[in-house]
Amino acid sequence: MPNSRIAGTGSYLPEKVITNQDLEKIMDTSDEWIRERSGIKRRHVAADDESSADMGLYAARKALDAAGIDATDLDLIVVATTTPDKVFPSTACIIQRRLDIHECPAFDVHAACAGFVYALDVADRFIRTGGATTALVIGTETYSRILDWEDRSTAVLFGDGAGAVVLQPTEEEGIIRTAIHADGKFEDLLHVPKGISTGYSPEDPEGAYIQMKGHAVFKKAVATLDSMAREALEHSGHGADEIDWLVPHQANLRIIAAAAKKFNLPMDRVVVTVDEHANTSSASIPLALDVAVRDGRIKRGELLLFEAFGAGFTWGSTLVRF
Ligand code: COA
Repeated sequence: MPNSRIAGTGSYLPEKVITNQDLEKIMDTSDEWIRERSGIKRRHVAADDESSADMGLYAARKALDAAGIDATDLDLIVVATTTPDKVFPSTACIIQRRLDIHECPAFDVHAACAGFVYALDVADRFIRTGGATTALVIGTETYSRILDWEDRSTAVLFGDGAGAVVLQPTEEEGIIRTAIHADGKFEDLLHVPKGISTGYSPEDPEGAYIQMKGHAVFKKAVATLDSMAREALEHSGHGADEIDWLVPHQANLRIIAAAAKKFNLPMDRVVVTVDEHANTSSASIPLALDVAVRDGRIKRGELLLFEAFGAGFTWGSTLVRF
């Protein structure tokens, strides 16, 4: 059975930037409060006519270019998103059409902020079992559309963007090990309360926007880091001391710092983009990965660890030889 390797990465951020100072003008908050509690300084926000598929497509094209392959070589598209363009078809099908390719399986994975780790695991399993040879995995989100911009407890924390990777088979090490989990009993701690079958209406701020018990989410996220750290390395043949880069989900600098501690990594071995991009949910790991690949920090052959935690709760980690 082959392994799968990351053959190329890409990302996209919308042009419009909203700084903490901009938020100070529209709500009762401060740059100092936001930076101290979350590490966030600014976030990108999609234009009115820009969607998750648009952003995912841009990121995908860059990942295909970086991998040096043509879209016609793809035989699988998996998109992680909680903010799809349409109820159906999937955002993956919309992106497939825009890439002008036909017939390969294309579907969305919905696992909130752990979505990219879930989607990567699915695509990796396709490749290992011979179901696909060249897979496109995208994380893309437009959280600005599910934020109540009058709720300071959530509006300051999220942003929009997309990231993508191309996977191909290899006989060498690639994606070494992934562990994913969910526990639905935490549903009410972090959710958008209404969906299509329960009366979603964009005019209903109680139902249509993110509701979060921030402190409880923070505690559970930090408490889960222990098992994530253990599981990613278990049976992998690698130790924590071999990890070159931690590429964590970018929710909050304090959670990221706690993760670095669990893996015994100094912060200069951790890719941090939360300050620039805020929490872009499914997009945050592939976005951070692409930033660090393109600026030359992450190099071929290095050992990377992805870890993510999100609504559900869902969580997971992936150990990768890049
Ligand atoms: N600006 C200023 N004050 C704010 C604020 C804002 N944007 N948002 C909340 N506050 C206030 C609260 O109203 C509260 O005031 P009070 O003490 O007068 O009631 C005070 O700040 C403290 O609120 P609290 O929620 O206890 O703060 P906290 O230290 O837990 O930090 C979070 C809040 C959200 C930053 C933190 O809980 C967190 O990061 N949670 C995890 C969130 C997350 O990562 N979610 C996504 C997971 S994928």
